[in-house]
Amino acid sequence: MCGIIGYIGNREAQAILFNCMSRLEYRGYDSCGIAIGGKNIHSIKNKGRVIELQENAPRIEGTLGIGHTRWATHGTPNAVNAHPHFDCHGKIAVVHNGIITNYLQLIRKLKNKGHEFVSETDSELIPHLIEEYYCGDLQDAVEKALDEIEGTLAIIVLKEDIEELIASRRNSPLVIGIAENEVFVASDVPAIVEFTNKIVYLEDGDTARISKDKIRIKRNEVTITPVINEINVTKTEIEKNGFDHFMLKEIREEPEIIEQSLDMLTNEKNIDEYRQVIREVSDISIIGCGTSYHAGLVGKYIIEEALGIPVRVELASELNHRHRMIIPDLTIAITQSGETADVLVPLKKLHQCQAHTTVITNVYGSTASRISDSVLYTHAGPEISVAATKTFIAQLLELYKITFYSSIIDTDSRMYAHKELMCISEKVKQMLENDVQFQRCGEFLSEHNEVFFIGRGINFPIALEGALKLKEISYIHAEGYAGGEIKHGPFALLDENTPVIALLTRDGTRDAMISNIKEIQARKSPVIVISDSQDKDIDGITDAVITVPQVPYLFSPIVNTIAVQLIAYYGAKFKGCPIDNPRNLAKTVTVE
Ligand code: G6P
Repeated sequence: MCGIIGYIGNREAQAILFNCMSRLEYRGYDSCGIAIGGKNIHSIKNKGRVIELQENAPRIEGTLGIGHTRWATHGTPNAVNAHPHFDCHGKIAVVHNGIITNYLQLIRKLKNKGHEFVSETDSELIPHLIEEYYCGDLQDAVEKALDEIEGTLAIIVLKEDIEELIASRRNSPLVIGIAENEVFVASDVPAIVEFTNKIVYLEDGDTARISKDKIRIKRNEVTITPVINEINVTKTEIEKNGFDHFMLKEIREEPEIIEQSLDMLTNEKNIDEYRQVIREVSDISIIGCGTSYHAGLVGKYIIEEALGIPVRVELASELNHRHRMIIPDLTIAITQSGETADVLVPLKKLHQCQAHTTVITNVYGSTASRISDSVLYTHAGPEISVAATKTFIAQLLELYKITFYSSIIDTDSRMYAHKELMCISEKVKQMLENDVQFQRCGEFLSEHNEVFFIGRGINFPIALEGALKLKEISYIHAEGYAGGEIKHGPFALLDENTPVIALLTRDGTRDAMISNIKEIQARKSPVIVISDSQDKDIDGITDAVITVPQVPYLFSPIVNTIAVQLIAYYGAKFKGCPIDNPRNLAKTVTVE
């Protein structure tokens, strides 16, 4: 995790660094710091958010500098452990994103040579190691230091009296943004999009020597000409635009995202991409973590029901430690960031075994996109809130498209799916207008400490996702269960203080679900039903009903997800939680 930023140009670096760091906070926000270069390096760092550091910071003059937002791995969040870290003489400053696995050994070696360390971090060894190798050429010293370091990293290095930054990456993302006489280095594009749309993506192993008017990238011992990509992320996409939180803004964008995703199907080239994903395969595995894993679980129902191909869904973080990896005909990795370490590890192994892989991601040029055979971009735009919302909906859309546009589906099924999907965004818009029912439910949940979400069939993963959303942003303990499973244990926890949110859909699971609801009510738990219809079947057996639009069973996860996202949002809002940046979490988890 952690976000890193570097700036070199003609403007005062301090304000620019703070601006970019605030956009990187989704990667970690327990502490932060900056260092401004020039004749000497001046640094300030602190525990807490960027805004707190910024408000208390003295003015530091200088037109080049580096900054960092931290998500602690080694050492508690405090000013000493915050980056930038320095060598013994305070002449070399480094910001680092990643984890150094051989840090104990390297720190021991450096201590034996007289280096003194002040922090508990692994990162601090980097400037000390660079200092050891420095003989007048900073890039050379950085490269030699990196040769000794094992693990993952993206770093930016600043040295006093040198008008250059050195940046390098290995398994952690890093991009360079180019503007008129100024250059930015950042963990991701949205951090710098306000300043430039000309982006160079660094590859693993690259080292860049950056001055304000020149970038030299060394790749495999050769200096290469940087490829400049013009990206189309706009500033409005990374602003709240009047919403209280990014999360609500991002949920409100969902109808448009559905429309955009379906618009891709008007282009024959795009359709062909979807045709190619699932062809003559006899088994499929889907891997992902967190919310993306839940999208994978929905994908299993979609693909198995529509195509009859068996699908195994694996938590990528669990797959990493298997002694024996079973390789399916096709692996679909789902990762909104494209940088989740737990996903990248198995993806790399699969790649090495020449297994066939497709990645569904939201981030252009992300590591996952570069180590798979094919990539489907979700095109949901930057998602700033730590809790994934619109990217989840966009992932579902990709799963529908690869299923219903696969070369092996019959034309009638495809046409039916297409027709139904085309109507969904309008229905979602209407549902978003009736916000009050979600607010009421959120308010009710905010007064409780434990909540269950239940669903059956294709909506069981949505119960898991609802519980995950609620717990991550409201800190209310929530569990997602399959409707039929709740009586096999969790019943022991039910009482009048434990609300249950039940997803009820007009499909083959409806009657069984109604029985589950009655059983829960008999245990005195308040039941709130999210239903696509309100009729006498549910009269009297629920404490409240939230209505969602009626859509065919296979597409019901779209509307039900939006309902649980809104409930979680309002639950957290009524509790006064920091919705976009929940405690202890980060959006892009680049450590295993
Ligand atoms: C983190 C985020 C979750 C996300 C998960 C997987 O835990 O907080 O919101 O679902 O990582 O992220 P990915 O980028 O791989 O989808």
